[in-house]
Amino acid sequence: MCDPVQVPNDHSPQDWDSRYDEESQIWSGNPNQALVAEVTSLHPGTALEVGCGEGADAIWLAQQGWQVTAIDISKVALDRARKAADGAGVNVNWRESSIDQLEGESFDLVAASYLPIRKEGQGLARLLEAVAPGGTLLVVHHAEFDPEHAKAHGFDPDDYLTVDEVAADLGPGWAVDVHERREREVSGGAGAHHHEDVVLRARWIG
Ligand SMILES: C[S@@+](CC[C@H](N)C(=O)[O-])C[C@H]1O[C@@H](n2cnc3c(N)ncnc32)[C@H](O)[C@@H]1O
Repeated sequence: MCDPVQVPNDHSPQDWDSRYDEESQIWSGNPNQALVAEVTSLHPGTALEVGCGEGADAIWLAQQGWQVTAIDISKVALDRARKAADGAGVNVNWRESSIDQLEGESFDLVAASYLPIRKEGQGLARLLEAVAPGGTLLVVHHAEFDPEHAKAHGFDPDDYLTVDEVAADLGPGWAVDVHERREREVSGGAGAHHHEDVVLRARWIG
C-alpha cells in the first residue's frame, strides 16, 4: 500500500501500469534501507523479491551475490527494472507475475517491500510457502496510513495486511528475529513522505 493519493484503486496490473506510465521513474532508485540492514549479514543464496517495482532492491541483492528472481504484476515497472539491471551489469530473473501465482518454488530469502497483500486470497500463504527450510522472510511496509484519506481515493487499507498482521499469521514453525517499527530515510521518490516502516524478519525453521 503506497500513498493513497498515488496508489491504484484496485492494484490490478493495468492500474499499476498506468501509475508507472505517469512518470519516467517513481521510486528513489536506491535499495530499501531495511533490506540493506537486515540482509547484509546473511550468506547469499537464492532470493525472491515480490513486487519488485523498478528493481532497485533486486539489483542490490544481485550485487551482493544473491541469485535473484524478482516478480511484479506491472510490465512497465519490469521493463524499467530490466534496463536498470543491464546498466548495472547484473543478472536478475525478472518475471511478470502476481504473488498469488507463486507455486512450488522455494528460496533462501523472500523479500517484499511495500507490497499490497490482500487479506482475502492466497497471497500471504504463497509468500510464506516460498521460503525454503532455514530461509528468511523479510516484509517491510509503511507504519501508518490515514484511513479516511485512503478511502476518499477508493482504497481501503483494511482490505490489506499490515506487517503486524503478517507477523501474527506466522505459525509455530517461524522464528521471528526482528519485528519493529523503525524510522526510515529515503532520498526521494513517491514514498519519500513516509518516515516510519514496520520491519519483519523471520526464519522458517519448520
Ligand atoms: C509500492 S510499490 C513497491 C515497489 C518496490 N518494492 C519498492 O519498494 O520500490 C508496490 C509494487 O507491487 C506491485 N504489485 C502490486 N500487487 C502485486 C501482486 N499481487 N503481485 C506482485 N506484485 C504486485 C506493484 O506493481 C508495485 O510495483
